[in-house]
Amino acid sequence: MCDYCGCRQSEPFAELSREHSALASLGSELRGALRDGSEERARDLLCRIVEILGSHVRKEERGLFTRVVDENDIYEGIVEDLIGEHADLAHTIEHIAEADAGWAEAAVGLLEALDEHIFKEEWDLFPAALGILGFEDLEAIARVHAEEGTAMEDAAT
Ligand SMILES: [Fe+2]
Ligand SMILES: [Fe+2]
Repeated sequence: MCDYCGCRQSEPFAELSREHSALASLGSELRGALRDGSEERARDLLCRIVEILGSHVRKEERGLFTRVVDENDIYEGIVEDLIGEHADLAHTIEHIAEADAGWAEAAVGLLEALDEHIFKEEWDLFPAALGILGFEDLEAIARVHAEEGTAMEDAAT
């Protein structure tokens, strides 16, 4: 992920990146649980992913995305695409809740879409945002993060 552009030295980028890492690692655990045939554990892991994703998406849309577009509307297209992907992820999650027979395939599809989405944010949006956001933007984003909180268990680290 993004260890080169300085994202991880700057809160609140670091908070979003920690959540990305947690989502990716829960995703690998979920894939492992499916390989082991442990669907119950896989379903628990999916619940954790959905929990973290909820406030994560709200923080991005209300905070980072809004500020990036306010600073430079050249990023409107990429931000709209990312918001569209948030909606697609939410739709897939709803579908998974109803799925029975194809549950495992639907969960793997969700993880693949989530991996691609996170890759775009970490490699396209975050480095660009770091270059255009000023101190006031970061303060405003931090306020949104404080309002939305995090579903991470180790939020203090
Ligand atoms: Fe996102
Ligand atoms: Fe994200």
